[in-house]
Amino acid sequence: MCGTSYTDGEQAILVHLRNSNGVTATLMDIGATWLSFCAPVQGKDRELLIRANDMDAYLEQEAYLGATVGRFANRIAKGQFSIDGREYQLPINNGENSLHGGELGFDKKRWTIIEQTHSSVTFFLHLHDGEQGYPGNMDVKVRYELTQDNALEIRYEATCDKDCPVNLTNHAYFNLSESSEDGIALKHHLKVEAEYYLPVSETLIPTGELKPVVGTSFDFQKEKEIARDFMSDSDQAIASGYDHCFVFSQKDCDAESIVATLTAPERDLKMHVKTTKPGMQCYTGNFLAGINGYDKSYKNNDGVALETQYFPDAPNQPQWKSRNPLLKAGATYQHKTVYQLEW
Ligand code: BGC
Repeated sequence: MCGTSYTDGEQAILVHLRNSNGVTATLMDIGATWLSFCAPVQGKDRELLIRANDMDAYLEQEAYLGATVGRFANRIAKGQFSIDGREYQLPINNGENSLHGGELGFDKKRWTIIEQTHSSVTFFLHLHDGEQGYPGNMDVKVRYELTQDNALEIRYEATCDKDCPVNLTNHAYFNLSESSEDGIALKHHLKVEAEYYLPVSETLIPTGELKPVVGTSFDFQKEKEIARDFMSDSDQAIASGYDHCFVFSQKDCDAESIVATLTAPERDLKMHVKTTKPGMQCYTGNFLAGINGYDKSYKNNDGVALETQYFPDAPNQPQWKSRNPLLKAGATYQHKTVYQLEW
């Protein structure tokens, strides 16, 4: 990212990957961020991510554009959880809750590049016991690989010397269209292989219910334009749009089955999502307005994030035990998400 340096006085390090079909991806060491994803559509390079224009704009925004999010992506109610009877209090940074790992989450860290090839880059981060309120010294690796079949594969790995809830995701916002007209995300078509979603309370914490999508605006089992049922019910009104976790069948969480497909409004490009994670936060960029973007000042719904993850507030929802995000001391957290283009 050109222009200004990061808060440590040094420039950001950018890594550019390219495959033989002309697809490119750019990653940055600050936040282990996915900055750019381009495909040559009808002979013209098309940028598929929305992003900040320079480091000043990157530092100003609070939308987590393309960043790696952790230790716990999404919300933890009141920033509290307990492990084996011991209570933990995280700093509060979103209303009364903790969001995306806290004030100084993974998105604000300068990661170390530990491996780089023509098609991949691996970032590494070490965290101290108690950092942002979380237990344990933790080592994290995030590896991005651009494949010959036009996918960006993201592999996550983490180890910790104490039990700690871990939920890592990437917070890229997609606009697969050539157009950057206001609210363009809503003109995309979306298919999500989810029979259930998680309704939320006013502070966007899941109520605990796994609600069937059938008969609601959350039914994307057959592809539909996102705009079709946008803001049509109270579950969306509470969140100013879609900002909810969709629940995948366990059999589909193998990073080989397609769990979601986003299609450009013009239908000249689509992107499949595959993952090992149990859910996906579909967030229609309901609070993007005012961000200084690379080609415009963004408006709400200018991009849509498809954040594969464990369920929000899972550490406080014992009924989701089979999808427990607790990383045990000495064990290894390993997950993979694939964003694959087709045009
Ligand atoms: C959350 C939104 C939040 C956004 C930016 C998303 O993952 O679900 O509620 O506004 O991140 O912080």
